[in-house]
Amino acid sequence: MRKKNVAILISGNGSNMAELIKDMKKKNHPGKLTIVISDNKNALGIQKAKKLGCDTKIIEYKKFNSKNDFEVKIHSELKKNKIDIICLAGFMKILSANFISFYESKILNIHPSLLPLFPGLDTHKRALNSGIRIHGATVHVVTEKVDKGKIIAQGVTYVKHKDTELSLSKRVLNIEHKLYKKALFNFLKKECKPLLIIDKKLKR
Ligand code: GRF
Repeated sequence: MRKKNVAILISGNGSNMAELIKDMKKKNHPGKLTIVISDNKNALGIQKAKKLGCDTKIIEYKKFNSKNDFEVKIHSELKKNKIDIICLAGFMKILSANFISFYESKILNIHPSLLPLFPGLDTHKRALNSGIRIHGATVHVVTEKVDKGKIIAQGVTYVKHKDTELSLSKRVLNIEHKLYKKALFNFLKKECKPLLIIDKKLKR
């Protein structure tokens, strides 16, 4: 079967992106990384993608007169590359309902909390402030309602009493790196069982 063309959209560090790209280099992977698009020309992820031998494209929001023009440009780049699936990996712009409608059920995102808890920003801080003892990350389908689309995978870790935002975010990011690649693989294979990854120490 033909491999699906995958685009990854980033804005920053690109550590999840790098994990996805490395995984897609495997022979039996159902996806092929086709292009990495960044809305930030200084994104570290762009350098990482280039080192991994990937095509990259910078599409800066401020270069366009409107959000619509910005999205038209992204869309034309995706069409040019015959993209089947889009992975958002730390992409900081909210896509419009119109854009999402062109790729219904074909856009995935990773969010640093156990959705439906803590949608939006500052998830680690809010988890710490809430007193919750477990935390994690979610891969979900992107819909026009931000962070509300169908959950396809979750990774769970614990919250230590001594945790800071930084220590907790590192533990969650570590889980994200394992989670997103498995979730994408299963999604492309049309494996419908929701995926759950549990931090080893939590199992004790
Ligand atoms: C991750 O925490 C992801 O969950 C969120 O943005 C962050 C991106 O990190 N959406 P990186 O750029 O993949 O290192």
